[in-house]
Amino acid sequence: MSPKDTFYPIMNAKQRIGELRELLKNANDAYYREGHSPMSDVEFDTLLAELKQLEEAHPEFHDPDSPTRRVGSDLASGFRKVKHRYPMLSIQNTYSEEEVRDFHRQVTEKIPEDEVEYVCEPKIDGVAMCLVYENQKLKLGVTRGDGVQGDEVTQNIKTIKTIPQQLPKDFPEDRFEVRGEVYMTREKFLQYNEYSMRVFGKELQNPRNTASGSLKLKDPAEAAQRPLDFFAYSILRDEPEGKHWDNLEKLDGAKFPVNTLRAKAKNVDEVMAICAKWDKLRDTLPYLIDGVVIKVNSLKHQSILGRTAKSPKWVIAYKYKTEAAETILESVDFQVGRTGVVTPVANLKPVHLGGTLVKRATLHNFDEIERLGLRIPDVVMVEKGGEIIPKITSVVLEKRPKHTQAIVPPKVCPICNEELSKVEEEVAWRCDNLQCPAQVQRAILHFASRGAMNIENVGPALVDALLEAKLIRDVSGLYDLTREDLEALERMAEKSAANVLASIEDSKGRGLDRLLFGLGIRFVGKTTAGALARHFKILDQLRAATVEELGAAPDVGERIAQSLRDYFDHPATQKLLAHLEKAGLKTDYDAPEGGQPLAGQTWVITGTLPTWSRDEAREILEKAGAKVSDSVSKKTTSLLQGESAGSKLDKALKLGVKTASEEEVKTLLGLT
Ligand code: IVH
Repeated sequence: MSPKDTFYPIMNAKQRIGELRELLKNANDAYYREGHSPMSDVEFDTLLAELKQLEEAHPEFHDPDSPTRRVGSDLASGFRKVKHRYPMLSIQNTYSEEEVRDFHRQVTEKIPEDEVEYVCEPKIDGVAMCLVYENQKLKLGVTRGDGVQGDEVTQNIKTIKTIPQQLPKDFPEDRFEVRGEVYMTREKFLQYNEYSMRVFGKELQNPRNTASGSLKLKDPAEAAQRPLDFFAYSILRDEPEGKHWDNLEKLDGAKFPVNTLRAKAKNVDEVMAICAKWDKLRDTLPYLIDGVVIKVNSLKHQSILGRTAKSPKWVIAYKYKTEAAETILESVDFQVGRTGVVTPVANLKPVHLGGTLVKRATLHNFDEIERLGLRIPDVVMVEKGGEIIPKITSVVLEKRPKHTQAIVPPKVCPICNEELSKVEEEVAWRCDNLQCPAQVQRAILHFASRGAMNIENVGPALVDALLEAKLIRDVSGLYDLTREDLEALERMAEKSAANVLASIEDSKGRGLDRLLFGLGIRFVGKTTAGALARHFKILDQLRAATVEELGAAPDVGERIAQSLRDYFDHPATQKLLAHLEKAGLKTDYDAPEGGQPLAGQTWVITGTLPTWSRDEAREILEKAGAKVSDSVSKKTTSLLQGESAGSKLDKALKLGVKTASEEEVKTLLGLT
């Protein structure tokens, strides 16, 4: 039913308006603050359109706080609030060509038709970001917040490598803003999701929520681990002039990442042709888009057209419909991911959806089966929307057949028969068998990755080939490889075999912190691995420690302590570690030369450092014995200060805390 067909007598209208406002406010809160979506985009937009139409028919129920007049809010506690110089508005959304034509008619009421030109850009499914530049330097990164004020997340923004922090000289010195979208590519999201499941036992919902959660992390070092990206889509300043298109080119020239997918259009036919063309491309793009943003090109025209309380009148978003189809759930398979997590996957009666034939859909986890109330063979609705993989959204109960079967979770791993385990607060069942073939490849890649043992020449293709040739069965197998083994592999030249062996050999000396991280023990991320290595110093001490002793290490809570104990008690772990020791891996922790000169000190890092990333600086300080904290207090020993240091520097100066540059720290630790 379209909203225009809805008719309510006056009392019902008041009630329905209240109901819709409540529903939409809750949905907005969940979306912006908690990072999940209780309803689909289409449902949200349909309810919003219904509310808008009712409010127009009943101006007596006007409310300036209605979701039709306010943008949703992502404000979170613990962040400095920054008032936006130019409010961050929403865009009017539509799913219909007719409404794009209405928009064009409204534009041409104020702008002569032959002067109108549009710029079309993909609507990136990410998080809006406001970057403030002053004196050609990045000053602030601020979220949209409630549109009027946002959360300052500058330090997290600075971890996104593609965002320039220094602009070329032809950019104005005065303050101006760059707006754009922070997002995560499909590939990076999938990789990060695997990592998150392996280390934290947590499955992530989608790239947008993950990007939004990453921006709200309190620790920039943690944010730096998240593979975020950015597309700039506008420049805002006090006296706008020229064309939006030229601003995009200018941003591109200053090395901002600007989407190359953009096009000009003179009329609605051209706009719709672009929308249709990009819809076909959609599945092949490395990032998710949910529509096309259509903007009036001339900034002068934009200011003539003006805005409503909620959105500018010079822009509209044509959103792609989330296609849905009805089909039958024929059976459920249980797949073991490379992380050991067992995921139920639905086998469907094949159905056409969004240009592809869908035969399978993810069910995420067993709670999802319960939440949906799924049985076999139910009639189900399948969608392929903002998510990457098609999913079942509901059961069509009216069409449920007489005889149905419940879906019973397996007790043992369908690949290796190991009994599955479930950690209390996790929703996932997992196979803890480190030798389970489903897990081995990922485990090896994580072990070899840069943040772990940094084995440069060992990538996915080689690991697959080695596993297939049965040359390795776990990470320890890498250290038994010979030149002959490698040269026997297809497409392995003599030179690269030597390189592979050299990088494997080189990795033996990495030390306990990297080794611990590389083993991929659940809940043991990079920071925890470093803290454990510094505390226990040698592997033997660590693996002999009781849960209580483990819990006494800095930053190690009960959950991590138990996970470590379980890991070391596992017979497969004991075999693996013995093999690694025999291969000659270094299993103790190398304190930096000269001992730990910063032991007992607390350091804070601020600003952009000349050569170290935040992560590196943290690792170096921690190795030297310092505790690295996020905020300056009386307890802070020193502030490591880089360029464009902000409030932390002010606070340090006020409290009389010493400051040091990267150069000074290098001298202090003898690193020059
Ligand atoms: S222009 C007045 N361009 O969509 C707002 N927005 O629903 C001008 N978005 O919060 C924004 N891609 O974060 C614009 N190419 C693009 C976009 C884009 C994604 C997001 C933006 C905004 C939301 C509006």
